[in-house]
Amino acid sequence: MKYILPLFLISALFADESFITEGEYGQMLYNNPRGIGCIHCHGKRGEGALIAKYKEDAEEMELRGPDIRKVSLAKLKRSLLKRHRIMPTYFLTESEIRAIFHYLHMEGEE
Ligand code: HEC
Repeated sequence: MKYILPLFLISALFADESFITEGEYGQMLYNNPRGIGCIHCHGKRGEGALIAKYKEDAEEMELRGPDIRKVSLAKLKRSLLKRHRIMPTYFLTESEIRAIFHYLHMEGEE
């Protein structure tokens, strides 16, 4: 009987970290992917976001990160590995990219 309490305490202490779902893992990476978080340019759930406003020839211009919720896994991989003008290049592993893809396709759940 005396071993039950310590074991329970240990699992309670580590529960937060060891039992995250793939979606939660993807959310962590989306927000903090070893580089600038996707969230700053693509919004909280990939719906797209305004990055900056500027003027060009007296015309108001908007720089936006596109909606990436419908992007395929293949396209997501390509975008993350290639060089862009504005978006940084990331060094994410296959399983990290899959987790982000999973997060973008979770629809509504947190
Ligand atoms: C500094 C802003 C910025 C950050 C940070 C950023 N992006 Fe982007 N992203 C853009 C912009 C702007 C475009 C569209 C133009 C381009 O390709 O550069 C884009 C394009 C994309 C595309 C292609 C969309 C399409 O329909 O062609 C995908 C997929 C994407 N980003 C995913 C991500 C993910 C995932 C992250 C985080 C790991 C991320 N981006 C971080 C700005 C950003």
